[in-house]
Amino acid sequence: MDYRMYDLIEKKKHNVTLTEDEILWMITEYTAGRIPDYQMSAMTMAIWFNGMTDEETTWLTMAMAKSGEMLDLSSIPGTKLDKHSTGGIGDKTTLIVTPILAALKVPVAKMSGRGLGFTGGTVDKLESIPGLRSDFSEEEFLRIVREVGFIDAAQTKELAPADKLLYALRDVTATVDSLPLIASSIMSKKLASGADRIVLDVKCGSGAFMQDPKSARELAGQMIRIGELAGRKVVAVISDMNEPLGHAVGNTVEVLEAMEVLRGKGEERLRELCLTIAVEMLQLSDQARSSREEAVEAVEETVRSGAAYEKFLEYVRAVGGDADYIRNAVEHVSGGEIPESPVETEQPVPVLSEKEGYLAACNNAEVGMTSVMLGAGREKKGDSIDMEAGILILKKLGDYVKKGETLAVLYTKKPEVLPAAKARLLAAYNISDEKPGTGPVILDILR
Ligand code: URA
Repeated sequence: MDYRMYDLIEKKKHNVTLTEDEILWMITEYTAGRIPDYQMSAMTMAIWFNGMTDEETTWLTMAMAKSGEMLDLSSIPGTKLDKHSTGGIGDKTTLIVTPILAALKVPVAKMSGRGLGFTGGTVDKLESIPGLRSDFSEEEFLRIVREVGFIDAAQTKELAPADKLLYALRDVTATVDSLPLIASSIMSKKLASGADRIVLDVKCGSGAFMQDPKSARELAGQMIRIGELAGRKVVAVISDMNEPLGHAVGNTVEVLEAMEVLRGKGEERLRELCLTIAVEMLQLSDQARSSREEAVEAVEETVRSGAAYEKFLEYVRAVGGDADYIRNAVEHVSGGEIPESPVETEQPVPVLSEKEGYLAACNNAEVGMTSVMLGAGREKKGDSIDMEAGILILKKLGDYVKKGETLAVLYTKKPEVLPAAKARLLAAYNISDEKPGTGPVILDILR
């Protein structure tokens, strides 16, 4: 059936629900270049103002998911799990959770992104391991999941090309921050990646898309309903992103911190979030335990026994990476919470507190931008990154700092950016005389 884009914009402008057929036509035609950007911009703005029903959002998601190739995971036996984070600072959870699940015989076929702007990407972090590959053919991708039990890969093919076009358009027409458009964008890529069950980590706070728990819950609820209508079970963990997760922000530094957690140590909140996501994924899988307590015990045992860490090393070897590099690097790590000298080629530069008091608040996006300035991230697509650049945050929200005490340590090969980077990091923290209340890392779990 052929429609006129003008009529569909007129309908949405008057808040009349679009049909499944109309949405499919619109997305198909737009992807094929037969609807101009100016008409699609008018549509996204009408959606921004009037929203979409759950059905419309699901139809939009499915139309975008089907706009390119869909990955077929049926050659991997059993129920396949995936996880997705809505993006944060210092988020190395995938590096920890996926080998834990594989050690529990739960297959995880995960495609991850590269970092852009103030959020880092799992693929970049992994590629800081010498030799490690992230780009695979579809056959290799499926074989690695069958043989190792998990994969953290870059996209094997172009998933949901309609989302890519629409996201670029939203970015320049002030329509990114629309709940149905964000939910359909994320879920279209998840549905196209083929997993049966999905655990979402919806971040909430100053370093996240959703700044407050109410909007994070709304986004999570919307994505769960899309999953239900599309026949996929989705669980959403809502987690705090008001300060970096763990201590490390960067690439090499984050991999080494992830190894700490896999070896049974690591910062408490990072550990708690990883173990919670792993438990939720386990309970959605064919290996689900009969109670939550048993699931927690099973997850903790894979870490205690070293099985999850060994699984990570097995993966590194399987994808061409140097597992001895990891073994040697972890030897240099303190054995406590904080990797003390994670990189040897760059001089660590301390950032000293200019005031005394409690760390009361953090503008987390600014911490992310500081790490980009140091060379750890990309300002625009295609920029190269310095794997060893980054930040170790030594003080966390609620900690007391003395004037002159080290708040953080910076690593960079660009000494010229250090004065501005130090000032930016210091400005990101608010130091107060009053001890602040610090909330939990897990704000909610929606099933
Ligand atoms: N992440 C996405 O993939 N899409 C959005 O619209 C927002 C965050």
